Amino acid sequence: MKKAEQRRIVEAAAGLDRPVRIAGTGSYLPERVLSNADLEKMVDTTDEWIVTRTGIRERRIASEKEATSDLSTAAAKRALKQAGVAAEDLDGIVVATMTPDMVMPNTGCLVQDRLGARKAACFGLEAACSGFTYGLEIGRQFVRSGAMDHVLVIGAEKLSSFTDWQDRSTCVLFGDGAGAAVLAPDQDGAGHRLITTVIGANGGLADLLKVPGGGSRRPASAETVHERQHFIKMAGREVFKYAVTEMCNAGRDALKRCGLTTEDVDWVVPHQANIRIIQAVAERLKVGLEKWYLNIDRCGNMSAASVAVAFDELVRSGRVQSGDILLMIVFGGGFTWGASVVQW
Ligand code: ACO
Repeated sequence: MKKAEQRRIVEAAAGLDRPVRIAGTGSYLPERVLSNADLEKMVDTTDEWIVTRTGIRERRIASEKEATSDLSTAAAKRALKQAGVAAEDLDGIVVATMTPDMVMPNTGCLVQDRLGARKAACFGLEAACSGFTYGLEIGRQFVRSGAMDHVLVIGAEKLSSFTDWQDRSTCVLFGDGAGAAVLAPDQDGAGHRLITTVIGANGGLADLLKVPGGGSRRPASAETVHERQHFIKMAGREVFKYAVTEMCNAGRDALKRCGLTTEDVDWVVPHQANIRIIQAVAERLKVGLEKWYLNIDRCGNMSAASVAVAFDELVRSGRVQSGDILLMIVFGGGFTWGASVVQW
């Protein structure tokens, strides 16, 4: 389908009363690289197992001095600069994270202070790996309704603080990082439109992926620390199956809402949990792997930061053409899932 025709169809289908654009993106990765060879010295694993089972070769680990708000602030500054939006002009800040600096205040407030975004309403959003996509939908609805003009959406994680470095089945998977996007109204047709987002969840499967300790159900105690309840616990194989199914469903649903099919997609930015999940989803959606932007080999699974960082890297690479259709697809703890369609 021709780009102009695509644009007309997606706008009509999505009923864009006040279109919303991605005015700028940014990301930040901590300096320290933890390679598979480093992990071989920490737990009983091999580079060969990690690469063949997950596609991960290395990941970034934040320093002791860096918390999630620091990673968020660095990514946000880059997104604001690219958008040409001053921090003082932000109406809202959404920080999607499962690794906040602390339980209260929310990480959005900490970022607001660091940026000097005085008039922004701030909140944290917890939807695990799907958080950035949930955040995009919340921001889109605020801008679309006219309640806000500029919303900063951040996906950021310091997963290394919640990783059990004695558990080889999880510690090889995760990394730290942050990605951000500034949403704004697109009334002059400048492009980069966030056309639609679908989000969903199945709380009946909550037990398959969780951090059990430290909440009101099991408050922190000597016992919870001893039992290692403050770390990520995951039933990997089960998560894998649901991830493939729900990522496919979310991707198809989002495209259908815009009157598009997978044939119209130019780029897919998936949650980067496991290369085998991505390959399985690509096969089922019948979208060739050359259209999928991947950074899992360098970054591992950064939960809410994964698609946020990948999206920023892709659009800054210069490979995306004006009018291209981008599909973001995510899946994470909850279970939660979602997909966004952007026309560049
Ligand atoms: N090194 C060597 N061997 C290992 C390692 C390791 N790091 N980890 C596990 N093994 C062993 C297991 O002990 C097991 O051995 P056994 O057969 O003797 O019992 C064997 O490898 C196979 O283990 P599986 O768990 O079956 O391996 P699998 O192929 O399923 O891969 C993985 C595990 C990578 C975790 C995969 O299941 C996966 O990616 N799951 C999905 C993760 C995901 O999508 N998460 C998304 C959300 S994350 C979030 O929301 C924070």
